[in-house]
Amino acid sequence: MSSTPVLFCADPLNPRTVDGHFAPEARQVRALGGSVALIDHDALLAGDAALAVARVPRGLGQLWYRGWMIPADDYAALHLALRARDADLVVPPERYRSAHHLPGWYETFAAVTPASAWLPTAPGVVPDAAELARVAKALPAGPGIVKDYVKSRKHEWDEACFVPDLTDVAGLRRVVARLVESQGEFLAGGVVLRAFERFVGEEARVWWLDGEPRLLTPHPDSDAHAVATPELDHLRGPVRDLGARFVTTDVARRDDGGWRVVEVGDAQVSDLHRATAPEEFAALLVGRGEA
Ligand SMILES: Nc1ncnc2c1ncn2[C@@H]1O[C@H](COP(=O)(O)OP(=O)(O)OP(=O)(O)O)[C@@H](O)[C@H]1O
Ligand SMILES: [Mg+2]
Repeated sequence: MSSTPVLFCADPLNPRTVDGHFAPEARQVRALGGSVALIDHDALLAGDAALAVARVPRGLGQLWYRGWMIPADDYAALHLALRARDADLVVPPERYRSAHHLPGWYETFAAVTPASAWLPTAPGVVPDAAELARVAKALPAGPGIVKDYVKSRKHEWDEACFVPDLTDVAGLRRVVARLVESQGEFLAGGVVLRAFERFVGEEARVWWLDGEPRLLTPHPDSDAHAVATPELDHLRGPVRDLGARFVTTDVARRDDGGWRVVEVGDAQVSDLHRATAPEEFAALLVGRGEA
């Protein structure tokens, strides 16, 4: 049985080859007998989905995507453009959105992830203090973090991520304003406020395919090359309920010992840690693509 082909991002300077960041994975997909097609990620994000898929052969049927993050609306446009070429994404747009955006996965994971509340916001627009105060009231008093629906500014921790006290509305708004400013046109969806929890040790990334944890890696930003084995049984239900075929959960141990989900992602766009063998990743897509 032939496996599901994988759509990779093309190298912007050399459109017939895979983007260097993902090239080792694509090489391993091919080595395992899988096939690869290319899309133009820049064209997709610039709003030209037809151009983005111009090099995708017609009639490929079901396809995995593997590459840089795609804003949820652009992913939907990719889906339509592929349909016009008799191809289809394995992960439909609404499933991609629910794994990629925190408001899409939060309810399903509420028992195993920090309490969160959010506010839709257009890029560049800082919500006013009253709105932020209303959203913060849904969370326990105390420290929090802010991010957009997809990403934080964790490298600007004190200025644009960490909030010492969620009931200090002026302080909260200052941090949110920096987040909105720093994200600029890339602000995804809106602003999320999360209760701060104390994590100890390294964050691990768990790669789930069809409801099973198939690969465990360090978080891509971690210097560690090995991770503690997390408890995962309490995550099986939420992962299954989310209904997305290929997701990552970033997990960390809380200071009381429980393993918590820091965030969920669509694994098609989750980065791989540099110490992870690309063939292990490729084997997931090639081996079980055709469920
Ligand atoms: N509720 C929380 N309590 C404590 N620390 C948190 C919380 N949320 C996030 N963090 C810390 O901030 C970091 C960044 O948060 P998060 O993973 O949500 O954002 P991100 O920008 O999407 O990161 P990534 O690089 O993993 O995509 C986490 O790795 C974790 O260390
Ligand atoms: Mg993260």
